[in-house]
Order: sequence, then structure tokens, then C-alpha cells
Amino acid sequence: MRTTEHSFQEEPGRNGNGNPGNGKPGDLLARLMTSGGLPPLDQTFPVSETAPQRWQRLFSDGIAIKEAFNLPYIQAVAPAFAAAVLAVGKEKVELLVIGGGDGHFSRMVLPTVLQLLSTRPTPIEVNVLETDLTDNILRAPARAAVVDARELDRHYMAGSFDVVVGEAMLHQGGPNGVAKTIQQAAHVLSRSGVFVHVQDTIPDPRDWVSPARLSDLGIAGIPIMRADSDKHRVELVQVSREAHAALAQCIHRETKALGGAFMLGAVQGDKTVTELKLPPHLFTRRLNAVAYDNGTLGQSEDPTLPDGRIKLTYRGTVSFIRPHQQLKTLLDAIDVMCSNES
Ligand SMILES: C[S@@+](CC[C@H](N)C(=O)[O-])C[C@H]1O[C@@H](n2cnc3c(N)ncnc32)[C@H](O)[C@@H]1O
Repeated sequence: MRTTEHSFQEEPGRNGNGNPGNGKPGDLLARLMTSGGLPPLDQTFPVSETAPQRWQRLFSDGIAIKEAFNLPYIQAVAPAFAAAVLAVGKEKVELLVIGGGDGHFSRMVLPTVLQLLSTRPTPIEVNVLETDLTDNILRAPARAAVVDARELDRHYMAGSFDVVVGEAMLHQGGPNGVAKTIQQAAHVLSRSGVFVHVQDTIPDPRDWVSPARLSDLGIAGIPIMRADSDKHRVELVQVSREAHAALAQCIHRETKALGGAFMLGAVQGDKTVTELKLPPHLFTRRLNAVAYDNGTLGQSEDPTLPDGRIKLTYRGTVSFIRPHQQLKTLLDAIDVMCSNES
């Protein structure tokens, strides 16, 4: 594993020695998580927001950014999803995607997950079902259904899935949404099941989050900088880490309440490309090192890069939630998947 970085905090113990760490994203998050005192995290997602046009307006920038960073994103997150599948320990794995948007997981991430799993001596069959609150999910290449992640038990029997996957969706659940979604994921997961959630975005206060809700989220007063909010210079700034830490802490708390095990990791991928496919309005000038760092777009000039090359870096966090089992087999699976990575 050369360019992807995974560092994990386990409950209890692993890395949890209160050491501020060496400045890597995982260490910073671990420090923020153990500092305590952050308020509960919730966010409103009114029913009226689910109209397709509204969905496009809310998520089209985010999805364009995600597509532009797909290479480093997949490099960063695919081993985490593959490890979750491996940790289940079955030859046939039922995987449920919640908050799947328009099918990003099965379109963009799944092929690499399957490739990583194909290096195992015993083949693993993965059956994917994509779901979302909106019918944009019906564009997914996999089987798909319109399902609210807070009401999975209305649609699926207890223990029906082995892995539940969420990409950038847990912060959108409305009052007690994180708790409801984790409880529901636990309900539909089998005994050896794992819920994996990847986080890289936070709410944009200019859009649809009220000041009161920002306060609930614990991020009121934290400057949330977007690429277009500073017309002169956009640099990597660690503005959103605290919000991510609040979400991680909330997931941790809800998992503990269930009696389950939780682990948080920092993931990173780096890829060099010749073309930056980002909407022009997100940048006022183009530099050659562009990063998507926990929801913040930043760019800088890297003089070591050959002409015409652009370095893309993705950084995010991954939460592993194991409602019914401890983390040992999961840690082993992460080791295997990370060492398999090309
Ligand atoms: C930021 S988008 C991410 C979409 C997709 N996972 C991706 O990575 O491209 C968040 C998605 O979560 C969905 N969502 C929010 N709350 C939900 C809920 N309670 N149940 C199911 N989906 C939900 C939204 O409709 C939206 O598609």
C-alpha cells in the first residue's frame, strides 16, 4: 500500500492512548474525537427536498467533484469496502447501499472492490442492492429501490444483508437520523455483518442548513470555505475537520448504545492525471495540485510535477460499525486488502 493511508481508531484501545499523533488526518480526528464535548449531530432533510430537480441542485456540484476525484477516491475507499466484504467470512455476500444517490457505488466503486476480492483464493460472490430516498437511484446499474434508510425494517427482514454501505449520507438523516440509520442498519445486518460509511462532505450553510441546525451539528462558527468563497487564493485548509469529528463521534456514540464495535479510519488516495474534469465555477484559476480534503477543495502549485500533469489527492474518513461482533476479523481483513492493493 504505497499511496493510500489507513490509520484506525478502535473502541476500545487501539491508538486510543490520548497521544496527539504526528499530524496525519487520522491522528487529528482521533484527537478531536477524544477531546469530547461536541453536541449531538443531526441534519434536516425535509421531504420537499427529495424532488429530482432539488436533488440535482443539492448534489450536482458534490457529484461533479466526486467524479473528478474518482481515481484517488476509489483508490482510497475500495480497500475499506473490500475488507468489510471479506470480514463477513461468507462465499456469497448480500450488500445493501443506503443513500446511494444515482448509483455511484455500483457504477464507480464496485468494480475495484471486486477486483481486490478476486485476489483471494476463494471466490466471493457479491449481490448488490442500491437504495436512496429519491428515485434517482433507479439510474444505478445494480438492482435498485427507493427506500428511506431510517425505515429499512419496513422493507427488509432482520439479518437480510451482510454489508451495508453508505457514501456521504449519514449526516443527512434529520433529527436523530444518525441513530435511526445505524439502528436500522444493525437490524438488517447478519450476525457477522459490517456497516461501512465513508465521509467526505459536510453541509453547506449557504444552501439548505438553518443556523439553528448548524448549531445542533456542532459546526456553527466554523468557517466552511468553499473553492469559490475566496477569489484570490484557495489553499488546503483544515476547516471541516471538526464537523467530521462531530459526525464520527456521533456514529461512535450510537454504535456504543447498540452494544456494537466502532472503528474510524483516515483514507487517502493520490493519482496524477492530464485533465482536471471539474466545473469551472469551482475554481477561478487552475493550479497543478488539486485536493479534495474532507469536503474542502484546495489547490496549489507543485513544481516537481512534469508539465501538463495534475496531481489529484482525495482525503476522507471511513467508519466501520460492527453491531454484533468485535473488530478482530475486520482488522485482519483490512490488513489483507491493503497489502493486496496495487
Ligand atoms: C451527498 S449525496 C451522496 C450520494 C451517493 N452516496 C454518492 O456518493 O454519490 C447523499 C444522498 O443520501 C440520500 N439520503 C439522505 N437521507 C437519506 C435517507 N434517510 N435514506 C436514504 N437516502 C437518503 C440523498 O437523497 C442523497 O442521494
